[in-house]
Amino acid sequence: MCGIVGYLGKANAASVLISGLKRLEYRGYDSAGLALIDNEQILVSKAAGKVANLNERAHTNWDPELFERAATGIAHTRWATHGPPTEVNAHPHLDQTGDIALVHNGIIENYRALRARLEGKGHHFASETDTEVLAHLIGDCDNGDLFQAVCDALSQVEGTFGVAVISSREPDKIITARRGSPIVIGIGDGEAIIASDASAIVAHTQRVIYLDDNDIAIVTADSVDVRDLNNIPVTREIAELGLDAGATEKGGFEHFMLKEIHEQPEALSNAIRGRLDLHLGSSVLAGMGTSQRELAELGRVVMVACGTSLHASMVGEYAFEDLADIHAEVQQAAEFRYRNPILGNRDFVIAISQSGETADTLAAVKEAQQKGAFVMSLVNVVGSTIARETGRGVYLHAGPEISVASTKAFTCQVSVLLMMALKLGRGRRFSREEGLKIAREIEIIPELVAQVIRKNDLIAEIAEGYVKDEHAFFIGRGPMYPVALEGALKLKEISYIHAEGYHAAELKHGPIALLQPGTPVIAVACEGPAKDKTLGNVEECRARGAKILGIVTEGDTEAEEVMDDFISVPRAHPLVATIPAVVALQLFSYHVARLRGCEIDQPRNLAKSVTVE
Ligand code: G6P
Repeated sequence: MCGIVGYLGKANAASVLISGLKRLEYRGYDSAGLALIDNEQILVSKAAGKVANLNERAHTNWDPELFERAATGIAHTRWATHGPPTEVNAHPHLDQTGDIALVHNGIIENYRALRARLEGKGHHFASETDTEVLAHLIGDCDNGDLFQAVCDALSQVEGTFGVAVISSREPDKIITARRGSPIVIGIGDGEAIIASDASAIVAHTQRVIYLDDNDIAIVTADSVDVRDLNNIPVTREIAELGLDAGATEKGGFEHFMLKEIHEQPEALSNAIRGRLDLHLGSSVLAGMGTSQRELAELGRVVMVACGTSLHASMVGEYAFEDLADIHAEVQQAAEFRYRNPILGNRDFVIAISQSGETADTLAAVKEAQQKGAFVMSLVNVVGSTIARETGRGVYLHAGPEISVASTKAFTCQVSVLLMMALKLGRGRRFSREEGLKIAREIEIIPELVAQVIRKNDLIAEIAEGYVKDEHAFFIGRGPMYPVALEGALKLKEISYIHAEGYHAAELKHGPIALLQPGTPVIAVACEGPAKDKTLGNVEECRARGAKILGIVTEGDTEAEEVMDDFISVPRAHPLVATIPAVVALQLFSYHVARLRGCEIDQPRNLAKSVTVE
């Protein structure tokens, strides 16, 4: 949610910042801006809309020599929280003197009180943002030492921030700090690049420092000095990113989403590799940090997550119950922390998050830790806040996911949850032989997914029949119920078709009233204990004239016959089959959105990483 880039080098700051913003644009994309230091002055350029608009604006307004000359700057791409996405509300924001510029992610919760106090001292504000208040506050605290001014201002702030600040009076440094919103500092050769995530850094260097909450750093082209907000030095290790710059590019695909769908066989292989024990019929997930004895004593699994990760957790719920005979439940992270979750030390809380930065999931982790539960995470982004906060967990190894609509993270999350359930199951429920059967099913998930992806052209053809619809229902039962929810989420996110995911049996308790001749119902009816019941529900929809698209198991003619269209997916264990089934729905949604001419990778109003509650 919002992207920050800061750069210090010898020249070319503007170009580095703009290309960094383009790589971060998936985080927020309603407006953008940048500030440079040139001849002891701050110069700012901003534009509503995409980074491309900012690029055009900056090139029109600024002398080409400035692009080459300026060596220090900060930039931002925004996802609006306070004030609409206009040029005036775009970051960077300046202080009262115009000598200090700030970019900010997060929310300053007490900005109204701070604003009123500053207005009382004669400050005038141009925007409606909380960020401008912070810029003025830093200016108000500045007595000739920018670092101290930022410390003093941040100590008055309630809320969350990731910030980068420059001053024309101290042109060779950027002050950057974080609380609840990530900041990574890339250390190059005579240059430094600061960003809210590594994708803006990877083209420059692999060597990075991750700031922790309440860290503040003085960054120059040659040094990084990290302290806490009380000005006490702290040591932060230099880490290796281990990311390939190509992984954040489209690589010949029309959209990141399509690329990431196609990457799934490889991503899944990476998520599964070395983690299945095909001798003992179990899995090896060292990061879980539990002994087999501790696992045997666990009373309950509670998964907390948001969005697509929530749907993956719901598949996990079935897996823990079916494979490990353990009580499992899923909680929306945003709800979890504001109810009174009853937790104890036999409860195993798993925070599931692609980005590892989602504010509600992070807050749920803290709540669970406080209540004494055994907390771990299932995260994709290495070094992310949730991964570090939990200290133990399992990485997905899915590679960077850039498209706002999550695809490969979901399938990798489900695969890892299946392996966790297998591990727990071997300790509690089934024999080596039974474990081996499941392990072998998990082992071939990448191949099952590859088989669905090979149907891309057929799915594109089927999608043509659904392009003009404005409403759709997705139904399923058992583990296919969360698949239906995820299918509906994919379609609505990227095509703007109103799509509802429903339990197949629940449809007749209300939503069936909305069915009319031709209304699309997408039924996830793969083989498994719930299939016949789902087909019964399909008949109820057919009787009302609905147009049915089925996701069915290959060779299941009985299911094919009740569908108007169908996409068949390979036969597999009902829990494993959720993965190829969801891939079919990812491709379906993708092609519907493409045919409708939608902006697939950056749907309106959404952001990839939601760092506000
Ligand atoms: C946002 C993204 C979704 C994602 C959700 C949870 O809404 O657009 O794709 O599923 O956040 O994100 P997380 O990183 O915690 O999985």
